[in-house]
Parts: sequence; structure tokens; C-alpha cells
Amino acid sequence: MTLSVASAVLIGACFPSPGETVDTSHLPPPSNKKIDFATDIQPLLQRGCLKCHSDEKPRSHFRLTSRAAALEGGEHGVDIVPGKSDQSSLIHYVARLVPDLEMPPEGRGTPLTDDEIGLLRAWIDQGVVWTGATNASSSAATVSPTVGWTGVSGDEKKFRELYWQREGWNGGLEEFQIIEKPTPDSTITSAGHVLRDDYKITLELQKNDLGFAHFGWSQFRKYYDDTGGTYPPLTPSTFSLNQDLHVDDGRAWAEFGLTLPRWPEIQIGYEHQYRNGTEATLQWGSVNDGTSSVKIYPAFKDLSEKTEILKFNLNYDIGGFTLSDNFRGEWYRLYSQEVNDSGYILGSGMALTTATEHQKYFQGANTFHLEKQFTDWLLGSGGYLYSKLNSDGSLDVTTLNPQFLDPALPFVPRYESDPIQLERESHVFSLSALLGPWQGLSLYLGTQNEWTRQTGLATAQVWRTLPFGIYFFSAPDQNLHSDSDLSSFSEAVGLRFTKIPFTALFAEARLQQESIGLTEEEDGGLTPFLRNTDSTSDLKDFRAGFNTSPWRRISLSGQFRRYTDQTYYDNLFKEVPRGEGYPAFISQRGIFSNEAEAKLAVQVSPWLKTTLGYQWLDNDYRTTTDPVSDPASGPGGFSPGGGILAGTYNAQTPSLNATFTPWRRLFLSTTFSYQHARTVTAANNSPSVAPYVGDIYSLMASGNYALNEKTDLTASYAFSTADFTQQDLAQGLPLGIRYFQHTLMAGVRRQISKTKTVALQYRFYLYDEPSSGGANNFDAHAIFATLTCRF
Ligand code: HEC
Repeated sequence: MTLSVASAVLIGACFPSPGETVDTSHLPPPSNKKIDFATDIQPLLQRGCLKCHSDEKPRSHFRLTSRAAALEGGEHGVDIVPGKSDQSSLIHYVARLVPDLEMPPEGRGTPLTDDEIGLLRAWIDQGVVWTGATNASSSAATVSPTVGWTGVSGDEKKFRELYWQREGWNGGLEEFQIIEKPTPDSTITSAGHVLRDDYKITLELQKNDLGFAHFGWSQFRKYYDDTGGTYPPLTPSTFSLNQDLHVDDGRAWAEFGLTLPRWPEIQIGYEHQYRNGTEATLQWGSVNDGTSSVKIYPAFKDLSEKTEILKFNLNYDIGGFTLSDNFRGEWYRLYSQEVNDSGYILGSGMALTTATEHQKYFQGANTFHLEKQFTDWLLGSGGYLYSKLNSDGSLDVTTLNPQFLDPALPFVPRYESDPIQLERESHVFSLSALLGPWQGLSLYLGTQNEWTRQTGLATAQVWRTLPFGIYFFSAPDQNLHSDSDLSSFSEAVGLRFTKIPFTALFAEARLQQESIGLTEEEDGGLTPFLRNTDSTSDLKDFRAGFNTSPWRRISLSGQFRRYTDQTYYDNLFKEVPRGEGYPAFISQRGIFSNEAEAKLAVQVSPWLKTTLGYQWLDNDYRTTTDPVSDPASGPGGFSPGGGILAGTYNAQTPSLNATFTPWRRLFLSTTFSYQHARTVTAANNSPSVAPYVGDIYSLMASGNYALNEKTDLTASYAFSTADFTQQDLAQGLPLGIRYFQHTLMAGVRRQISKTKTVALQYRFYLYDEPSSGGANNFDAHAIFATLTCRF
């Protein structure tokens, strides 16, 4: 979790974007007026960019919230070069010159007009002034109250699950923002939304060249359908829990930062995250009508999860070095109770199993990172991460009314384990260098090494019960213990070549060797064993690709990836009194994956742009096992061993996107994609393991028409259908889904005065799922009215 994120940060250096290939001769010219940030630029950023580039979860780590943040750039490097708008990649992105980096992204906002690009260019050329020219104290506010009603006929719970909202009345503030400027260099901003079961409120105080304080709270509700599977031969063929399943997911935070010039940048933050409620799980239970038993009964889990997070970040530029230190401490608590049906005999009764789990842990991780541009062709960086986890928990699994279980089962055990303890400690080192470019060639080299040690300890009791609920045997305590030592080494190398006009070529390789020594032991209890397994794994990941745009109207990109990961197990020691078996007989496992992707974008005419894409993925899973003997029937009695192709997954996805702007007031965009996927598992002659094959089609279309100066019409339609089946009705779980989903929206927005805009929207939803026998079907209508006022 946190560990892998931190390791990704360590080795995360990568190539800057291929800025050299952008042909800037077609950029709209900079406007020649004197720019006033507050009137010319701020509203434009607010409308088109801040949805994705605000302080909170900024896409690509690029923030357009202050001059310093904007100049810092993001994952693609520096995006604004003050005084040089033609060399600023932000301008290349908004002018849609760089494929896949059009801003706002394709279909996620209205492209900027040439005039707007001209304003942004002039703003950059005039030195990226961030406060208004007037520099006077000012304040502004926007509020958008909304009210609406949704009527659903059919399965309301499926509607809630798919659209993350409830039927009936909804209303509140769709958006509010209050900006106050008590002095020219300080800002107080409060923003967010308050809707039914969906809240977000933030307060941000900021003073230039001093620091900031951010506070916020957000919470939203996620819904789950409460029906299980469908099995037509059974009556009834589907079951529902009749529960309102939902989980509230929230967080509250406070963050303080110092941004004194020539001082280290320091940030301290505290965050409280929580999830509370009841969710559906796929642990469907069996229903028995006397002739057949199928797993279709729905299951759920109550949960309450809390995490406290403390963060500390320090960034310091000194003597040409960039130093950073990040600490993150996480205290986590979980209580959950999972309830699923273990046996339902129609007409008699039900056996329910509850699994109660408590867990808490503390994980602390500190990353130290150092970077220096030694010469104009050498950037070097290194890092060290230390992390430590201490966790403890308990588990209790009990079955109620065991008399309703499958009569073939003689007794039901009850498991209880308290405590379960886990400790983990890791050290990760990394070093990397970015060399070049020389003659358009740049080279990336990196290495990362990790050592992790983990110890687990648990004590468990097992009771066995007679079908009538009488405990007849309590086994001695089982003591479980495991130790694992992991060491891993990885090396990465990448090449990028940009000397060919309008073309960039790249190739990357990442290799990782990992070895794990694992000891597992159980003493006492019913199934004592001692096992000692060494495993080594070898991962290879190669990628190569290109993008080219020989003419302004055409761009083509392609990529190929080959990924293999093989693990070899050496079972040094296995002492299992009852014979050898799972999993110590697996000697090798591997994933072999090939992936290819191509994309062609053509500006057919000034008003039509099309993009064609194709993705192809092919995975093979292989397993090799040792022969397994059975003390009774001799060597190979259970399995002769050997290698098999355990499974394959392949998928093909063509897609087509077209954007029409036949005249300035009309904007239309459609995207169509189709996927064919097939998963085949080694069946070993079992009819219940059948291939899972299917197709998904999706279509999205949206349009925007400016009727006049004051009125806009918008409409959108989305359709998706999938047909996945697994022919295993003969035995086991009925799997597969077939559905048709339509979402239609139509709206009108009208500016009624200088400061007020009214929007009316109508939405229609239709969902048809023949594979559930219609149990999940619904159709719904909604109308919403929203007023936006600016002060
Ligand atoms: C709907 C979300 C969205 C909107 C709106 C949006 N962007 Fe982006 N932006 C992204 C994403 C996602 C990326 C990362 C793209 C990638 O790396 O492939 C990005 C990347 C960028 C980058 C590169 C940052 C870096 O890593 O150096 C810049 C510059 C940028 N956006 C500018 C803008 C501007 C200017 C606007 C407004 C005109 C805007 N964006 C609107 C989502 C958005």
C-alpha cells in the first residue's frame, strides 16, 4: 500500500515530455493587450482548469492555484516559461498540439478558443503576474442552489448502485465558492458542495510568501444492490436481502505550510479518514431446493474503518541540491462483520455464517530524496525509504443454525483466533541518473533495492459442533507462526530519441529479481505442520513505442509491451503428518503478457477530428507442480505433477472518437468502443470451470449548441451493453451478465441577468439486465433546476 506508493516515488524519475517535437508555427498569436490577471485569466482557469488542477488531488501534480505552484510544473516537468509562451508546454496543451495531452482533455470540457489562448500567451509573455493589476482588496462569491426529483420504477437499489444517488427529492448547493481578499497578498477561500449524502466543504487561508492553512471535510455515499445471483430453474429464482446497503466514505483534513522565500518549504498535515456502513459482497451462499444447490444467496458486510494520518514534508534547495523528506504515519482501525448464508434449504431454514474481524495497525514511513542537476546533461537522484508496520487483530467465524446446512456435512467448525500479530520492516534504496540529450538521444538509468522482514504470530481455537448446536469437541490451541525475508533488486533503463523530425521514439526495460525465504509453522491443534520455502522470482518488463505527427493534421502513436514474471519455489522442508499437499507442491508459476496499442488522430477538416485506437492484450498463466503422493496409494497417487497452461486471458479493444465543430456554436463529440475478452482456465475435466467469454460495447455522444449570446443547449447520450457468459449452469455458480444501459440528458442554460444563470436539466435512465431475469431492471426520470449567482 503505502510502501509501494513510496517506492514508486523513489524510482519515479522519468523523461520530460517530448516538447521538441511540437510545431509551434500554428499557435494562435498572443493578444496585444495589457493583461489583468483577475479579469482576463483567473475566470478562464476557474472555468476550464481548476476542476482538475486545484490543490486537492491535482491531476499530474500540476496546480494552478498560485504563481509558485504553476511555475513549479507537474509530472511532465515545467509547463510555464515566463516570457516565452511559445516554449511553454501549457500553451501547447491548450492549443491541442500534443496528442493525449489536450487541455482540457478530450470530452472533459470545451476546448479554449483562439482568443483565450491568445490571452494566456500574453499573460505568460508579460511575466505571469498572479494578482490583479488593481491590487485592491476584493471579494467574490458564487453559489448554485439546485433542486430536483428522480422517480425510479423497478429495482431502485440497482439504480442507486449504478448512479451513486437515491431516488426522490435531492437538492442543496451544487457548488459554492467565496473568495475574500482582506489584503492584496492574502486570500481566504471557502468552497464545496452540499447535496443529499454528498458533502464537501473547504476553507483555505493563504498569504503570499508566508504560508497557507487548509481545512476541509468531505463525505459521499456509495450504494450497493442487495440482490444475489439468478438461477431460473429454481423458484424463486433470485433472492434479495431487503436492506438499504450503503457505505459513507469521508475524510477531514487540516494542512499547514510555510512558503517563505529562500526558506525550506515545510508542510504538516493531519487527516482523518473513515468508512461506515454495510456493503454487498460476492460471497453468495447456496440455496437448496431438494434437487439442486446453487450459490446465489446475497451476502453483506458491516464495516467501520478509521484511519488517522500524520504527514510531514520538507523541500529544500541548497547548493544546487533539491532535498526532500516525507514522513507519513498511519493509525488504522477496522471492525467488520461479514454475514453470508452457508446453507439455505428452501422450505426449512437457513444457516448463516458470521465472520467478525478486528484489526488495527500503525505504519510509519519516511522517505528521504536528493536530486542534483550536475551538468546540463546529467541529473542524478537518490533516495532512501524506511517503513515499519505493527499490526494486531482477531477473527471469529461462527455458524448459526447449523442444522440447516447441507446434510452431507457431518459437523461445522467454529474458528476463533486472538491475537493475530504482524510486524514488518522495510528499507528501500534507489539511485537514478538522467543523461543527455545528445543529438536528440537521452538515457535514463535507475536501480532500486529493497529489504523487508515480516513476522506473523497467531493463536487459534477450533470447536466442532453437532448439527444441533452442541459443541462436542474442542481441539487444543493451534499456534501459528510465520517469518519471511524479502530482498529485491530492480534495474531500469530507458532511451528516448527525438532527432527524427516530428517524431519521438522510446524504449524502456525494467528488470527485477526478488527472493523470499518463508518459514511457516503450526503446532498444537488439529493440523500441525512445519514448512520452509525459498522462492525466487524474476520479472522482466520491456516497452517500446513511438509517436509521430509528420503533418499538423495527423498524429500516430504505437506501443508494444512484453511483461513476464516467473516465480520458482524451492520447498526445502515440509513436514505434514497427513501427507504432502497444497500449496507446497507448486514448484513454478509464471505470467506471460503481451500488449500492443496504436492510436491514429486525424484532423480531417477544420471542423472534424477523428481518433482511431486499438488495444490488444494477451496473458498466459503457467503453473508447474511436483508429483504428490498419498500415503495410501503411493507416489503420484494424488497428482502426477508437471507443467500446465493454467489460464489465458485475451482482450481486443478497438475504439473510435469523432469531434465535430461544424460551426463555432455547435460542438459534437462521439466515442465508440468495443471490447472482446476471453478467459480460459485449465478445467481438469470439471464442467464447472468453463471459459468466460464476452463482448462489451459502449457509445457516448455529447453536444453543445449556443442558441444565442445568452442561451446554451446541451444534450448527451451514453449507451453500453455487455454480454458475458460462462456455460456452467450444469454445476456451480451461475456466472455471466447481459445488460443494456442507456443514459440520456438534455438541458438548457440561460443567463437571466449579469450575475445569474438558470439551468434546467432532464435525465432519463434505462437499465435492462436479462441475465438477472429482470430482477435488476429499472427505468428512471429526473428533473433538476439550478440557479447560479455571482456576487
Ligand atoms: C478533466 C480534468 C482536466 C481539466 C479540466 C484540465 N486538465 Fe490539465 N491535466 C489533466 C490530466 C489528467 C493531466 C495529465 C495528463 C497525462 O499525463 O497524460 C493533465 C496535465 C496537464 C498539464 C501537464 C502538467 C505536468 O505534468 O507538467 C498541464 C500544463 C495542464 N494539464 C494544463 C491544463 C490547463 C491550462 C487546463 C485548463 C484550460 C487544464 N489542464 C484542464 C486533467 C485536466
